[in-house]
Amino acid sequence: MFDARYSIRSHTSGTLRATDTGAEVTLAGWVAKRRDHGGLIFIDLRDRSGIVQCVFDPDTSGPAFMTAERVRPEWVVTLTGTVRLRPEGTENTHMATGAVEVVVTSAEVLNSSDTPPFEIEAGIETDEITRMRYRYLDIRRPEVFSALALRDRVVQRFRRSLEARGFMEVETPILGKSTPEGARDFIVPSRMSPGKFYALPQSPQLFKQLFMVAGIERYYQIARCFRDEDLRADRQPEFTQVDIEMSFAREEDILHMMEDVMREVMKEAAVDLPVPLPRMTYAEVMERFGSDRPDTRIGMELVDLTAVFSASEFKVFSGALAAGGAIKGIRARGAGDWSRSRIDGLNQIALDAGAKGLAWVAFPTDGEVRSPIAKFFTEPETAELRTALAVEPGDLVLMIADARDTANEVLGVLRLTMADELGVERSGFDALWVTDFPMFKYDAEEDRYAANHHPFTMPRVEDIDKIESAPLDVGSYSYDLVMNGYEIGGGTLRIHDADLQMRVLARLGHSEEEARAQFGFLLEALGFGAPPHGGIALGLDRLVMLLAGADSIRDVIAFPKTSSGADPLTGAPDVVSARQLREVHLKTD
Ligand code: AMO
Ligand code: AMP
Repeated sequence: MFDARYSIRSHTSGTLRATDTGAEVTLAGWVAKRRDHGGLIFIDLRDRSGIVQCVFDPDTSGPAFMTAERVRPEWVVTLTGTVRLRPEGTENTHMATGAVEVVVTSAEVLNSSDTPPFEIEAGIETDEITRMRYRYLDIRRPEVFSALALRDRVVQRFRRSLEARGFMEVETPILGKSTPEGARDFIVPSRMSPGKFYALPQSPQLFKQLFMVAGIERYYQIARCFRDEDLRADRQPEFTQVDIEMSFAREEDILHMMEDVMREVMKEAAVDLPVPLPRMTYAEVMERFGSDRPDTRIGMELVDLTAVFSASEFKVFSGALAAGGAIKGIRARGAGDWSRSRIDGLNQIALDAGAKGLAWVAFPTDGEVRSPIAKFFTEPETAELRTALAVEPGDLVLMIADARDTANEVLGVLRLTMADELGVERSGFDALWVTDFPMFKYDAEEDRYAANHHPFTMPRVEDIDKIESAPLDVGSYSYDLVMNGYEIGGGTLRIHDADLQMRVLARLGHSEEEARAQFGFLLEALGFGAPPHGGIALGLDRLVMLLAGADSIRDVIAFPKTSSGADPLTGAPDVVSARQLREVHLKTD
């Protein structure tokens, strides 16, 4: 609770109500607005709790009236006065304090202010760089402040909910050794070990596993993570995880614990999370939504049309099927009358997403079916296509023939594009678990296998024999928490056997020597009675973004970075002196 104790105030501005009528109050804060009504002067005084109207009367306010004549927006003042009900007809029902005002008897200026570069109020249109450059003023605005306040409540709730379940917060090093979460490391040169570098943690993954070996059993940390990757609206180079690890817990236990905790946390934002959450396997979400973080509030599921076109005359289709691929499609309701050029725009999106082309059939609200390829379809094929997709007049059917994974992924992108274009409503909270990710994926560029989650993930027991012979068929104990189309968190059961860990590292292309050099400490620790364990990490910024209804995680981070990783406020990153470079044994040209 924000209150007036330990301050020069007797009360806080935003909390005054009709019940305070008659009270003498001392307030302090910023001048939000000043109105001179020729005679009376009104000042809206803002502090963290809100705004209250203060009245200066030339007859009763004494020298304070002169102060009121002088002050300007964002000046800092303290004042004393009496709370009274506003005269009838002047109440403001849009303000929490709108029933009252403070009749000022004395006032003092504590500081003046330069003219702010933007209005300190909700809903301004100022560009984001300017807001970031003056972030301390931006935070004075109600929507930014309330996002940070929500973030605080969420963090405190996580702490309470996790502590109540026997989790213990332990910190892990920031200066460390590279951990493989798949992104690029930020590195820090060491002054004391010339030519050597620390890496900032991409996550506390290996340390939290060591805590399990250490017998902590239930660990959590509100942990800062660092990843040098290209930024997006939901990615920052430094971000915060609610990082969790448990020993002697099955996958089921971890999911239940997380659901219970999330339910408590989301109440802080008045969201009622119905648990248990729905679960879908990775294979299922890819088939149905073409994404491993599906927004299931949008319909438009992917439909398998392979059977419909199994004997197709159309070379693109028959060719894809002959190569072992699939034909999949979606039906976009309301796009059947789109112009040729508008549909061609979708073609480019499909190509950018990795397709070789986009097949489409438009069913106008009235008139002939339009399609560059319908001429290759037999009548039964067209009829079956209509049935398979429950086509109605006004629908646009989009189809991709390709390797099954490619067809799914491309349609996953088109599905979201069409939902945006058609303004499909996405209201309410949609949360689900996506489980059973494959253990490995094939990296065609580097011609090697990579871990889908990370190399410490436990392969499914029944698939362990296939690590060497058929890695792409190996499943894993893994789960992502998906909300409204965002990956909010992810975790796995871990390998707790050194030999199995070694086999997985070998499959990922590490020689025994390399594996020992990079992960020797983990392999060694697993040899000292490592308990079975697993965990999860939630992206705190993303979660708060969703709860705050914001569009970008920048809106819920106090001092975020731009998409080029810069901080317009401090000017970081910046050059350092030649001496600083020498001290850490670095040269730049
Ligand atoms: P992962 O890499 O999936 O897992 O990260 C966990 C969650 O962190 C969030 N996240 C990000 N948020 C903002 N900016 C970023 N650059 C960013 N990168 C990730 C996402 C993601 O779901 N150690 C494992 C977890 C585990 O296995 O326990 C890990 O870090 O919401
Ligand atoms: P083409 O015979 O290559 O000129 O292609 C005829 C039509 O099929 C064009 O509209 C292409 O965009 C579309 N097309 C090409 N390749 C594919 C594919 N793999 N899947 C779906 N449609 C495709």
